[in-house]
Amino acid sequence: MHGSIITDMQVFNDNYVPPTLIVRADEAREIIWRISNKVIKSGNLTDITMIYGQIGRVGIGKTTLAKYAAIKLSEELKEKGIRLRYAFVNAYGAPTLIDILSSIVGALGLRVPVRGASFVETMKSIADYLMVKDEYLLVILDEFQGILLSNKISPDDLYRLLRVYEEIPAGDGINRIGYILVANDVRALAYIREKIPQVESQIDFMLHLRAYSSYDLYKILEQRAELGLAPGSYSHYIIEMIADRYGEDRGGEGSARKAIKALQRAAERAEMRGDNSISEEDVRYALAQDSYAYIDIRMLKALDKHMLLVLYAVARATSERGGWIPTSLVRSEYEEVSSLFGEKPRKHTQFYEYISTLSRLGLLEKGVEKGKMGSIRLSPEIPTDVLLEVLDHILIDKLGEN
Ligand SMILES: Nc1ncnc2c1ncn2[C@@H]1O[C@H](COP(=O)(O)OP(=O)(O)O)[C@@H](O)[C@H]1O
Ligand SMILES: [Mg+2]
Repeated sequence: MHGSIITDMQVFNDNYVPPTLIVRADEAREIIWRISNKVIKSGNLTDITMIYGQIGRVGIGKTTLAKYAAIKLSEELKEKGIRLRYAFVNAYGAPTLIDILSSIVGALGLRVPVRGASFVETMKSIADYLMVKDEYLLVILDEFQGILLSNKISPDDLYRLLRVYEEIPAGDGINRIGYILVANDVRALAYIREKIPQVESQIDFMLHLRAYSSYDLYKILEQRAELGLAPGSYSHYIIEMIADRYGEDRGGEGSARKAIKALQRAAERAEMRGDNSISEEDVRYALAQDSYAYIDIRMLKALDKHMLLVLYAVARATSERGGWIPTSLVRSEYEEVSSLFGEKPRKHTQFYEYISTLSRLGLLEKGVEKGKMGSIRLSPEIPTDVLLEVLDHILIDKLGEN
């Protein structure tokens, strides 16, 4: 029988926006507050908000933050009797101006022909529609650097798009279109300066998002697990393992996307085994899929045989009890493993040096926080059973040599 761990598959979808944003709550609040304040007090919406990420980092919640802010903003304004809608436009792959206008028109459910119409005609239809319906529109232009870098949209057109009402004054004097621009990183600002310098000074609010720490990822994964996994099918420990693997503060990529995918893969593996809960080994396999050549056999072959015996001891203890292993236990396990292979265990100082080297090589982790001090863990992206098998072969080879 197959286990039933994933209760809501949709929660693991890449485009899923959680009902509350626990991490980045302050950022969301600030975007919402600034725009709603403006609309309520002035009756106008012309704001340009820009969100950009840390250089070289993806999956850090830029798109999610923009969508979440737009959804909540429209909910909050609705309570005050103000209607705001949003249009999400993904500018990846360099769309033309017509593509962008089509997306906006489509999101509004407007029935006007875009192709064949001029920019001014289409924009006027949109502006008139908003005026008649007394609605506001927030356009999210995601992957904005795609527009800036392409030559499919001229700087003039881009300017006209972002500053609609300079070209088409509103019939009732109320400006109703604002933008959230979402870009990969700060370089987008340089492109804006170069291409549409008039717009730079009109950006009302700019937000720089850093990659996630392991603490952030823990919170995000915990929420996803609560929303999409059966109660009791996962432990605090396995969520922490994934969060630790990807946290930027731990040398990971800080990507929520990767962390959530790993949780999903681990859950799927557990289900495939027919189990009702996710094991540590499920997580190790899930993380291994995302690591390049997770067991470097050539590197292992080059290591001293006693270092390999220490690693073997950690792997054995991991398969028996899992989690963080007290060093004293690794030591006794090492002595046992040594005698099993007909070897005399090395002295304590040497043993500790092996541990340090193995941790420098990324094979082990040394516990540094309270409760983990003096403990060791096999690196989370290494499946224990695969490692034991590989080590068995290498050790038999090596010990046969003498
Ligand atoms: N703060 C957060 N809270 C909950 N889920 C998040 C958060 N940030 C990112 N995610 C999730 O991580 C994945 C990647 O986020 P996304 O916004 O697409 O990243 P980016 O646009 O920076 O590449 C999405 O599935 C998203 O739901
Ligand atoms: Mg994105």
